[in-house]
Amino acid sequence: MNIDLIRQDTKGLSDNKIFFNNAGSSLMPKVVVESMIDYLQQEEQFGGYEVANRNAKLLEQFYEETAKLINTKSSNIAFATSATEAYAKALSSIIFKEGDCIITTVDDYISNQITFISLQKKLNVKIIRTKNLSDNELDLEDLENLIKQHHPKLVAVTHIPTNSGLIQNIEGVGKICRQYGILYLVDACQTVGQMSVDVEKIDCDFLTATGRKFMRGPRGTGFLYVADRILEQNFAPILLDSRGADWTEYNDYELFKTAKRFEHWENSCASIIGFTEAIRYANTIGLDSIENYNKKLAEKLRGNLQNAGFKIQDKGNHLSSIITFCGPDGDLENIQRVLKEHNVFSSVTYKNSALIDFTNKNVNGIVRLSPHYFNTMEEIETVSEILKNSLK
Ligand SMILES: Cc1ncc(COP(=O)(O)O)c(C=O)c1O
Repeated sequence: MNIDLIRQDTKGLSDNKIFFNNAGSSLMPKVVVESMIDYLQQEEQFGGYEVANRNAKLLEQFYEETAKLINTKSSNIAFATSATEAYAKALSSIIFKEGDCIITTVDDYISNQITFISLQKKLNVKIIRTKNLSDNELDLEDLENLIKQHHPKLVAVTHIPTNSGLIQNIEGVGKICRQYGILYLVDACQTVGQMSVDVEKIDCDFLTATGRKFMRGPRGTGFLYVADRILEQNFAPILLDSRGADWTEYNDYELFKTAKRFEHWENSCASIIGFTEAIRYANTIGLDSIENYNKKLAEKLRGNLQNAGFKIQDKGNHLSSIITFCGPDGDLENIQRVLKEHNVFSSVTYKNSALIDFTNKNVNGIVRLSPHYFNTMEEIETVSEILKNSLK
């Protein structure tokens, strides 16, 4: 991995900022922005439909690059405008009835939890959350017992929560879901681009992701993976459009075969082109290399902050490039101010975004630093020093 070259490709780093907010919205490589500008300029000249026809092959590469990213086939990929849109489309293809049960975790993403609560309010769907073990790992035995007891319609797990460094054992969950024939939805929004993802190993039915975070794509992009077994059983979003089916009779349609049936017809093609370039960029570097490098950055930063006296809030045996912490007395504001003064990009999450996790951890919020492969070990040391000095 040539970090110098990667940094030259990242125009956002040219003003000496230290960018540690990749779990929020990362810096796009210049090829991403250039490809989008070029595409928009073509649309300016010829109109969107003509340009889409001319670029049909290039637009198809989105499916090929995404398939490569997560080890599947192009036909299992749908473009989405966000991870949340992909998630809603997947959920809407499952016909929930009163009394049906969804099993999820206490660490799942806020919007997913709100969606489940909405299903509870509107359809009387039951929400059950698995326990964590004392080391904060998912309690797979509890999950299996809950499945046996409640026969859920769906198990839904966020791989890497937005508000904690935790990496959940989604392959372990996948094995149990397959054993009991339960639908399995994985939110990999914070995972893609940060580490390698293999849907064959996870054995999930649906997987959702976004473009603008560790993937380094533009805003308004994401994707949905749909397994063959789901496509073969004719799952489709409840509100289909002409992207999803052929209108064959006055009152009937025939579903298209691929996961594109989970898309809507209208999309920003420039965004798809930019997102494709972002995925190609990561695929070319290699997700294993990115993952190994990120692990070293995160471990170093977490260790330094811990040694300096900050309270690290990442709990679990497998931790990601999301580092969450607060001051020795729970302080967030001072840390935020100091980071801002030194041009370090970070973010803060408050309790309402992680209600269960932060209640259990007894914190009102956390500061989140999320370095990525364009960052250097020197930057890790610089930020550690800045924060250490702020405690003096
Ligand atoms: C774990 C997780 N899931 C889902 C989302 C939602 O992504 P989007 O805003 O692209 O819908 C986020 C966003 O922060 C996230 O961190």
